[in-house]
Amino acid sequence: MNLHIGVIKGDGIGPEIVTEAMKVLDKAGEVYGYECTYEQLLLGGASIDVHGVPLTDETVEKAKACDAVLMGSIGGDAKTSPWYQLEPSRRPEAGLLKIRKELNLFANLRPAVLYEELKDACPLKEEITGGGFDLMIMRELTGGLYFGERKTVEENGVRTAYDSLTYNENEIRRIAIRAFDIARKRRKKVTSVDKANVLDSSRLWRSVVEEVAKDYPDVELSHMLVDNCAMQLVRDPKQFDVILTENMFGDILSDEASMVTGSIGMLASASLNETKFGLYEPSGGSAPDIAGKGIANPIATILSAAMMLRFSLDQDRAADAVEKAVSLVLKDGYRTGDIMSEGCTQVGTSRMGDLICERIQ
Ligand code: IPM
Ligand code: MG
Repeated sequence: MNLHIGVIKGDGIGPEIVTEAMKVLDKAGEVYGYECTYEQLLLGGASIDVHGVPLTDETVEKAKACDAVLMGSIGGDAKTSPWYQLEPSRRPEAGLLKIRKELNLFANLRPAVLYEELKDACPLKEEITGGGFDLMIMRELTGGLYFGERKTVEENGVRTAYDSLTYNENEIRRIAIRAFDIARKRRKKVTSVDKANVLDSSRLWRSVVEEVAKDYPDVELSHMLVDNCAMQLVRDPKQFDVILTENMFGDILSDEASMVTGSIGMLASASLNETKFGLYEPSGGSAPDIAGKGIANPIATILSAAMMLRFSLDQDRAADAVEKAVSLVLKDGYRTGDIMSEGCTQVGTSRMGDLICERIQ
């Protein structure tokens, strides 16, 4: 069986971490009987350098023709990179937003799991994290503040900027359905996060989520204000199963959730549309400060590749094998620098990829 995978290596550590994920995909393919063909796609700074824009329409078309897309990370150092001299709509991040929108990737799944082996890297006290936790952030990805009308104007001599936060009920309903569907396969709890004490968009969010919940009597729904949620994530992360939230809140809470697992280098993500197609990327950024040094943690990208095998490519057994290989490597005491702790063996990016490949069965 042939799988046609779009690959966006991107910027910063992107090329290094994606190379390891491709290695792992190929190894799992040998064991589970599929073969990958890769199509390299340019996004972000890498695309600006070649085409002058962060994403071309041609790349969007090529991505659509793939079974799924695996991505590293995009963007550079905003202080030093020439990409940030360009107007905002031509910067690397604009390419990422455009591909999300063009491919209609409205459902962004960001799992945050605390591995037993990594509990030393977790900044929270043992009494909070004992027994680990496993939560899933379901972030709406193609609406809200990220895609509302924005402008900067001068009003009576005063510079004034506008960003608008809009959601319609259809956008809320489709992401809520995804969250309830996922919760059904997990611990059957949805916490919908909003700011309904202030925002109209949140009040609509809450009422549409409640309508959807009627079709899922077996799933428990609760609502939480976003400021409280930010606090609860460090006070008691175990209370959460699926967190359902809008674009901007999800952006912020998912970084927080990743940190409580110990390292952003561990967290995978999937961005899905109505079909099985998806774009898979680590939750972390391009880390330009360590790019090219061979020390970045490739595990988040490898786990994103596992999500891709599961959600887009119908290769559940291969996905399980990759996830298991990651746990084994951690059990065997191998760590990249970001998750290093005493008594473990520190390895670089490529060695970590090899060690995971060796454990795929
Ligand atoms: C993320 C990133 C992006 C976002 C940036 C790079 C535009 O932070 O995927 O969380 O805000 O969505
Ligand atoms: Mg973010």
